[in-house]
Amino acid sequence: MRIAVKEVVPAFVGQIDDFPFEAMDERVIGELRAAWTAYPILRFRNVAIGDREQIAFSHALGRPVLHPRQLQQGKNEEFPEILVISNKKKADGTAAGDLGDGEVNWHTDTWFVERPPSAAILRAIELPQEGGNTYFANMYAAYAALPASLKSRLVGLSIHHQTVIDGRGEVRLGMTRPASPNYADWPGVDHPILRRHAQSGKTGLYLGGSRKHQSIVGMAQDEASLLLDELWARATDSAHVWGQEWRPGDMMMWDNRCALHRRDPFDPGAIRLMHRTTVEGERPMAAW
Ligand code: OGA
Ligand code: MN
Repeated sequence: MRIAVKEVVPAFVGQIDDFPFEAMDERVIGELRAAWTAYPILRFRNVAIGDREQIAFSHALGRPVLHPRQLQQGKNEEFPEILVISNKKKADGTAAGDLGDGEVNWHTDTWFVERPPSAAILRAIELPQEGGNTYFANMYAAYAALPASLKSRLVGLSIHHQTVIDGRGEVRLGMTRPASPNYADWPGVDHPILRRHAQSGKTGLYLGGSRKHQSIVGMAQDEASLLLDELWARATDSAHVWGQEWRPGDMMMWDNRCALHRRDPFDPGAIRLMHRTTVEGERPMAAW
């Protein structure tokens, strides 16, 4: 084996201490893929690479995805594949990156498109002294822990993920808020709640993001609301959650198809600077 994976959380989080970024041949990529199927969350330590190497690493796993905000804002002219996640400001006082210094609620990335990304890779460049931890919730484990009656109730059900309001509750660029109070009527995409993972074949809960604006296809809003509250509570139960406390040289890679993530806020006076790349995914497959 060319890469050694240490288990951090069984069947969920693995750690690779000295990944050979400079020698990514077919064998290394094959081992990486196998490690990633076994551990949807991978932590790389002692990472000393730049944007070019991060992009090459990301590309080895699949085609790059440019986040809608990345396309709109062109935050990184030299390497458009890099999404800057930071509270840093440019000289003119405008944001140099996304997500600011506040809490980021539970979500999967870009859940509101037909083919949400398979992976996101987040590399720490500058970290605050404290705060800004990132938490991951295991959606295979959350599914497995559901009572049998709930598992069968979810068969055939899809969430309607509206595309108008973003995860922060703001109207997305270029969109206008529809008149209907019913989110089911808003433009969006439907994804099955029980998702079969394209590589592992395992079933996980797929809840997307922005709970407040969700509806369930073909279900009355009141009933859907109760069910969604229950699913989100079960999905984010601390039994399925692990937290990453960032250290210099850390890079996280998460499987966006079978894990949710959230982030703690941090001191607005501190700087947190991360560079993210994103890998194309497939249309979520129903697990029934
Ligand atoms: C993201 C994200 C969390 C963090 O990049 O999609 O949610 O810890 N980031 O910055
Ligand atoms: Mn995210």
